[in-house]
This record gives sequence, C-alpha cells and structure tokens, in this order.
Amino acid sequence: MQAPTTTMTDGHELPLLGLGTYPMDDSEAAEAVRGALDVGYRLIDTAASYGNEAGVGQGIATSDVPRDEIVVTTKLRGEHQGYEATLRAFAQSRERLGLEYVDLYLIHWPLPRLDLYVDSWKAMIQLRDDGLVNSLGVSNFTPEQIARLVDETGVGPVVNQIELHPHFVQESMRAYDAEQGIVTEGWQPLARKTDLLAQADLAEIAEQHSVTPGQVVLRWHVQSGVVPIPKSSSPQRQRENLDVFGFTLSESEMARVADRPQARSGGDPDTHEEF
Ligand SMILES: NC(=O)c1ccc[n+]([C@@H]2O[C@H](COP(=O)([O-])OP(=O)(O)OC[C@H]3O[C@@H](n4cnc5c(N)ncnc54)[C@H](OP(=O)(O)O)[C@@H]3O)[C@@H](O)[C@H]2O)c1
Repeated sequence: MQAPTTTMTDGHELPLLGLGTYPMDDSEAAEAVRGALDVGYRLIDTAASYGNEAGVGQGIATSDVPRDEIVVTTKLRGEHQGYEATLRAFAQSRERLGLEYVDLYLIHWPLPRLDLYVDSWKAMIQLRDDGLVNSLGVSNFTPEQIARLVDETGVGPVVNQIELHPHFVQESMRAYDAEQGIVTEGWQPLARKTDLLAQADLAEIAEQHSVTPGQVVLRWHVQSGVVPIPKSSSPQRQRENLDVFGFTLSESEMARVADRPQARSGGDPDTHEEF
C-alpha cells in the first residue's frame, strides 16, 4: 500500500500522504519510521526542534526501503534563522539524520519580528544549489511572507506546511498556495487537540464507507488537494491512516466534514514565536 504522488513545481515527486513524528523521541521515532516505511509510507516529516532527527535517520537506515524512494522532510528551527546559522543548522540536521541529502527543507515558522526568514531562505537556496537539499519549502507562512521570498530571491517554496483540519480549513491560504503552484501540507490533520474524531456526523459518514472517522478526515484532506501528515506510533493506525485511496467522499460529504466551528489550535504566523 502506497500513497500516489504529485509532481512539485521543481520536478520532484511528493507522496500525497506522509507520517508526522512529533512528539516522538528518538527511540519511538526509529521504530515508528521503520514500521511506517514497511507498510508503505514514503514521506516522513521531522524537524530539528522535535529532537528526533537521529531516530528518524535510524528508522530509515534500518528499513529495507531504498533511500531514493523516501522523501525526508526536516525544518529549520527559529533560533537558527539567518544566513550562516542556517547553513550550520542544516549541516547538524543532516548529520543527525545520517543522510547525504535531505529531500525537503522547510523554514519552520516565519518569526517576522526577527526578520531573518529571507536571509535563511537565501542559505537554503545555496544548499539546494550545492545538491544537499532537493526541494525548498516553508511552514506556517502567509501569502505576504511567501510573496516577499519570491520578490527578494526570485525563488518560491514548493510546499507550505500549515495547520489544517476540518476545524480550521484555511480556504484562502489553500487557494493562494494553489495559484502559486505550491503544495499545501496539513499539520495536525486529525485535529489532535479537539474532539473531532468523536463527533457523531463523522461516524455516520465513516459507516457509509466502512472506514473509520480518521480515514474520513484524511480522505477529506486528499480530496481537498492537501497532503496530510498524520502522526501515529501505532502500527495499526499507521496502516489505517495510509489506507484512504480506495474510497471517495461525495460532494455533500466533503461539505459536511468541513462544516464545523473554525478555530486554529496552534500559533498565528504573524505573531507566533518558537525557537
Ligand atoms: N509545521 C508545524 O509547525 C507543525 C506543527 C505541529 C505538527 N506538525 C507535524 O504534523 C504532524 C501531525 O500533527 P500532530 O501530530 O500534531 O496531530 P495529528 O496528526 O492530527 O494527531 C496525532 C494524534 O492522533 C492519534 N491518531 C493518529 N491516527 C489516528 C486514528 N486513525 N484514529 C485516532 N487517533 C489517531 C495519534 O496517536 P497514536 O500515535 O497513538 O496513534 C496522535 O495522538 C506532527 O507529527 C508533525 O510532524 C508540524
């Protein structure tokens, strides 16, 4: 079982669903990543700030899946923004992961007060030109922040990873990404901090398709053109979450999934600070 892929604007392939790894520690990540690769995951999401890049790398190293079939994503943490600091931070991530190259490198948060994301982006372009990163992306960026990257460097991200789930559907951000040819990845796709998966209408839709509420939500992402990265440390739920490419939600079911109170549960990109 594998997710289909989409071709990003830089020509690289991206699986339509991946594995999140926050808040796994190294040993949990090593086991979860190896298990996920075994069942068919080919997109893995980590970050320097998760403290589990070494475990993710170990999971990759001990799996039988060839390296070039895996899309490994990691992220630049806030405290390492800036041109030189980004180069150093990337070298450390690469070493912890134990990889020759990283497939997708993201700026984790824009941190506009620091005003270093353009310098960080320039360093990331250098890393790509040096063959150490295949694809460059951002996380939690607004249209204005993305436009600034493009204006000042001529290079735009191929991915924007944002909070996205049925309690925060992000219609205008998704529309902007789509216009720019940017793939939107959804973090916290199962709305971990809410009772979404226990809501009765989702159970009804799930029953219609003989699937679980979690599968309904992940299918909603896929049909919305979003790449979800659900985290699971359970082999059974990992399999369940990947198995969403064999049924289709109707238009009215799609609307029903998204029809609920809207609120973000994480930070606002214009003000959120984490280092
Ligand atoms: N870029 C950013 O700023 C940012 C921010 C937050 C997260 N992320 C990334 O996005 C990933 C996903 O977000 P998240 O982990 O916060 O939330 P999530 O994927 O929405 O939810 C994960 C939680 O749901 C449980 N779960 C997984 N599959 C399930 C299923 N089928 N049915 C019921 N429960 C299920 C997991 O438990 P079990 O493990 O026990 O299955 C875990 O507790 C993270 O791991 C991280 O890689 C990025």
